[in-house]
Amino acid sequence: MELFDAIRTRRSVRKFQERPVEDDKLEQLLEAARLAPSWANMQCWHFIVVKDATKKAAISELSYVESFFAPKGYKANPAKKALAEAPVVIIACADPEKSGVLWEQPYYMTDIGIACQNLWLAARGLGLGTVFVGVFDEARLRELFDIPSNIRVVGLFPVGYPFEEKAGGPPRKPLIEIVYQERWGG
Ligand SMILES: Cc1cc2nc3c(=O)[nH]c(=O)nc-3n(C[C@H](O)[C@H](O)[C@H](O)COP(=O)(O)O)c2cc1C
Repeated sequence: MELFDAIRTRRSVRKFQERPVEDDKLEQLLEAARLAPSWANMQCWHFIVVKDATKKAAISELSYVESFFAPKGYKANPAKKALAEAPVVIIACADPEKSGVLWEQPYYMTDIGIACQNLWLAARGLGLGTVFVGVFDEARLRELFDIPSNIRVVGLFPVGYPFEEKAGGPPRKPLIEIVYQERWGG
């Protein structure tokens, strides 16, 4: 798939076929993440690949954060079923010490975000689907997967073959609203 087509047609995929994901495709996703640029090339990322059904079910249960979702009227994370049903879940972690901080702005989130977008676009290019799940109980996930306390869990990616091809997604702001010429607001 041509790069811009992948960028344009990538969607959040939350429903999958039962078909397993081939290991070589899984490796290509992780390779795409590995090749991402990062602060001083420090590569703060780590990924945990989970195929075990019991563990995926546990991850799914940890995807509801009441303080975040309840005020919005959500009874579950929209990706809850996807996490339990996808053939694979990838847990994206970052080591903040392996990235930079400037003007109190930590760049590990940028680094892992770029890596995750590489993974997401690679999935699209390979005919797979996924979604960035950013809301979950980090402390309990850490316990469940023996993740050290200095490591941040940043995203969960249920990966599989999409159940259906999505025609469109939520709209984006037009360029005119987000791009300025020569100065802010110009
Ligand atoms: C950092 C981040 C966190 C997200 N967290 C969740 C989440 O917890 N649950 C979920 O269902 N979708 C989550 N999403 C998916 C977004 O809702 C989705 O990307 C957005 O609505 C645009 O839709 P699209 O991906 O189909 O273009 C997240 C996306 C990002 C980038």
